[in-house]
Amino acid sequence: MVRLNRMLDPRQTGREAEKFEANLRRNIVGQDDAVQQIVNIYQTYLAGMTGPGRPIGNFLFLGPTGSGKTRTVEVVAETLVGDVRAVAKIDCAEFQHSHEIAKLIGSPPGYLGHRETHPLLSQEVLNQYHTEKVKLSFVLFDEIEKASDALWNLLLGILDKATLTLGDNRRVDFSRAMIFMTSNLGASEMSSILRPNLGFAACEAERQIRQGVLGESLNEKIHRAAVEAARHKFTPEFMNRIDKTVVFRPLGVPELRRILELELNMVQQRIFNSPTGSPFVFTLTDPAKEHLLAEGTDVKYGARHLKRAIERALVHPLSNLIATEQVRTGDLIRVDFDPIESQLTFYKEAEDMPAYAMAQMVDYPVTSPVGAVASGIGLEPPRVINARSSRRS
Ligand SMILES: Nc1ncnc2c1ncn2[C@@H]1O[C@H](COP(=O)(O)OP(=O)(O)O)[C@@H](O)[C@H]1O
Ligand SMILES: [Mg+2]
Repeated sequence: MVRLNRMLDPRQTGREAEKFEANLRRNIVGQDDAVQQIVNIYQTYLAGMTGPGRPIGNFLFLGPTGSGKTRTVEVVAETLVGDVRAVAKIDCAEFQHSHEIAKLIGSPPGYLGHRETHPLLSQEVLNQYHTEKVKLSFVLFDEIEKASDALWNLLLGILDKATLTLGDNRRVDFSRAMIFMTSNLGASEMSSILRPNLGFAACEAERQIRQGVLGESLNEKIHRAAVEAARHKFTPEFMNRIDKTVVFRPLGVPELRRILELELNMVQQRIFNSPTGSPFVFTLTDPAKEHLLAEGTDVKYGARHLKRAIERALVHPLSNLIATEQVRTGDLIRVDFDPIESQLTFYKEAEDMPAYAMAQMVDYPVTSPVGAVASGIGLEPPRVINARSSRRS
């Protein structure tokens, strides 16, 4: 034995956790606290230090609509097992009555419909997206403030013992699951903090949100309002089972600007992955982006409003252009803004671009090559340089 007195650094995270964190940060905008908490818990899991007989992590996400609560869960699943569909999502409002609970856990043998019901929360469903390397599951209970008592009891059992007993007495093990619960509780208190009706406070809050730098005191107030609303509504029994309560911040213009870039990227991916298979590339000029941003900024609905603006002003017109064959495989489309008509305009800048040239033009995150490969647009320059002939049959 060699005696030492070397100081260690417990803040360092392992490489796996680091990669995980980097990908979360790339895809989740402005919610650093949420990212940090999830990474901490994942690191604990990787180190084998999760408490026995409990889920890997029980998270409560609070905060305004459209601030990224659901998206965060999707990104976690996408990053760890490569598929957003790995999230088992339960909309608590849909399970108010006992026959609806049967949809979750199946009905007991002998009951009408026993054989036909496939419980939504079975072990098969949880394990469905396990990979050779990663055996993790993700369960999202959305809008838990709407859960009925029966659902609430199920939830408490899952959070505490990591088990659920199905209608036919089989047990489902949640010890390899991350459990996420979201709630809009406190949203109205939060929006009155953000949109006070009175003079100076109103201007100040508006200014801070627009600039995307909520001052400490405003942030504190929002945090407190959300946590207090949760404490008020939920029993201590429930709150004690939560590992981390995260309050999502309302998004400001700088955050929406970054989300716009992510969303445009996703539209581009949709084009590449489209089953009709006529991949082309589009770019937006700065005025076109500013137009979408102006159309899509709404403090109350966060990024949802922005997504709707993108669908309306960009995706629908593009779809028409595809359907009428004005846009074809290998085209380069420039989207500009016409200030007189106050709408986006579309120009064909080039055609017959080879696949590798298209791939080089898009800002793909390295984590999502699946669709690109499936549609024949490899991320590396392919050997065959014609977009059409390089497509797989
Ligand atoms: N912080 C964010 N980072 C990246 N995208 C976001 C963020 N917040 C919202 N979005 C985008 O807006 C959409 C709606 O957000 P969502 O996560 O469903 O909001 P909610 O907080 O109501 O669950 C998401 O699908 C995502 O595309
Ligand atoms: Mg949501």
